[in-house]
Amino acid sequence: MNKLIISIDGPAGSGKQRIAKYISKKYNLYHLDSGILYRRLASIIIKKKINYKDNKSIQIFLSSIDFLSARSHLKLRNEKISKIASKIAIIYEVRKFINANQKAIVKKKLKSYKGCAVDGRDIGSKVFKNANIKLFIRVNSEIRAKRRHKQLIEQGEKSIYAQILKEINLRDKTDKNRLQSPLVVPRGAVIIDNSKKFLHTKTLIDQALHKIR
Ligand code: C5P
Repeated sequence: MNKLIISIDGPAGSGKQRIAKYISKKYNLYHLDSGILYRRLASIIIKKKINYKDNKSIQIFLSSIDFLSARSHLKLRNEKISKIASKIAIIYEVRKFINANQKAIVKKKLKSYKGCAVDGRDIGSKVFKNANIKLFIRVNSEIRAKRRHKQLIEQGEKSIYAQILKEINLRDKTDKNRLQSPLVVPRGAVIIDNSKKFLHTKTLIDQALHKIR
């Protein structure tokens, strides 16, 4: 049986995760949120007080571990971790380690699942270049900042809209302009506009995925 890989890329706060969850539930696929690996590494670096600007210390730490867990946790979604995750994601060794980690997870999961929906920034362009279906999620930064602001308030965190917008624009800039695997629309990707209600997005996804059946 052919195994299916669907890549879902897009900028911070574009709703990739929700889309990946919708697809994986609908088609019984394993969902891998690759961003959680960058977030988990960022959180360990903060806890261990490793200087995130010091590539050498990060490399030494990476050589001491084999694997990062992809288990999701709300604690990994705060703004400090988001910021550091995006900073360490520019380091070649970090990407190499996390890409190998992702491939190992997918390989293992494909033994029991018929496919995987993987979301991130470089999934269709780099990590799974041969993905069967590639999606790229688009939403302008103001709408993304508004959604993020609302989410933080609902989580009981402090949030200032102007600050969130500034941070989203900064993360976009870092993700798009880095040398290693910058955020790009992968060749052959279907662009999904997720700025309207999710019901609208679902219709676009269903149209893009009709070939699965
Ligand atoms: O998707 P999420 O916002 O959770 O990702 C956190 C950070 O990890 C992003 O800002 C991005 O810099 C980095 N990332 C990446 N490549 C991926 C997934 C995430 O560079 N495939």
